[in-house]
Amino acid sequence: MKINIKRFSSENPNSNSIEQFDVKHNNTILESLQEIKNRQDHTLSFRCGCKTGVCGSCAIRVNGVEKLACKTHLNEGDLIEPIKNSEVIKDLVVDLSHEEKFLKNTQAFLHKNSEEIINSNDEKQIDRQSNCILCQNCFSSCPVYEVNKEFLGPYALTRALRYVDDKKEADKGSIIASIQDNGVWDCTLCGNCTLVCPQFIDPKTDIMNLRMKSVQNGYEDKSLQAFGGFDNSFDTGFDPSGGFNPNGF
Ligand code: SF4
Ligand code: SF4
Ligand code: FES
Repeated sequence: MKINIKRFSSENPNSNSIEQFDVKHNNTILESLQEIKNRQDHTLSFRCGCKTGVCGSCAIRVNGVEKLACKTHLNEGDLIEPIKNSEVIKDLVVDLSHEEKFLKNTQAFLHKNSEEIINSNDEKQIDRQSNCILCQNCFSSCPVYEVNKEFLGPYALTRALRYVDDKKEADKGSIIASIQDNGVWDCTLCGNCTLVCPQFIDPKTDIMNLRMKSVQNGYEDKSLQAFGGFDNSFDTGFDPSGGFNPNGF
């Protein structure tokens, strides 16, 4: 079976090329990459950890779509590329230093413990967002980074919602305040992030939810201020919970 892999080395920027290898049938893409590294080309570079879809380290693009290499079977002639929106270090390995920065900027962590008594139903409410494995599939699929490298992005905003909805968090206001600039209002609601998430998280809906909570806390989309802001006294048809929604729901 043939597999095509995009090769690159930051030490040799002219090394940009697509190489083809022959590998065994019925393997996952990660098994095929390991087969190549062990038997054909020791210099091939990629990340992996758990090999069971848990650690999130093996994110790649297969024919242009973000996948986990350990959870995806290889098809004849597949093109394997590194994820987008990150600087490529070597072959399929990218710089992930943005990960910590965006999580810090959204303040997606517990600030102050509330006195509230929580039960298992409260935990269920944040279960889905808590399952994020930080694989970066959503980050790679997001078109906003073409125009704004500081966009907080889907995984950091989903994690922000996880803490805003966490009854243990007593200072939700700090999180809501931190996601206004380069945050919830910059999302185009295209839904790419939701389509590529291996954990079935829905960052697009989470962002719409955060917009609604932002409005409830007195914030509004700054880009609308040029048009006089959102006027509650007149029904413009604008939905402050979702903003412009090209998907029509
Ligand atoms: S829905 Fe928003 S966050 Fe998700 S990929 Fe589209 S623009 Fe990015
Ligand atoms: S939200 Fe989904 S796609 Fe994005 S980093 Fe988390 S697990 Fe990966
Ligand atoms: S190796 Fe851990 S998710 Fe693929």
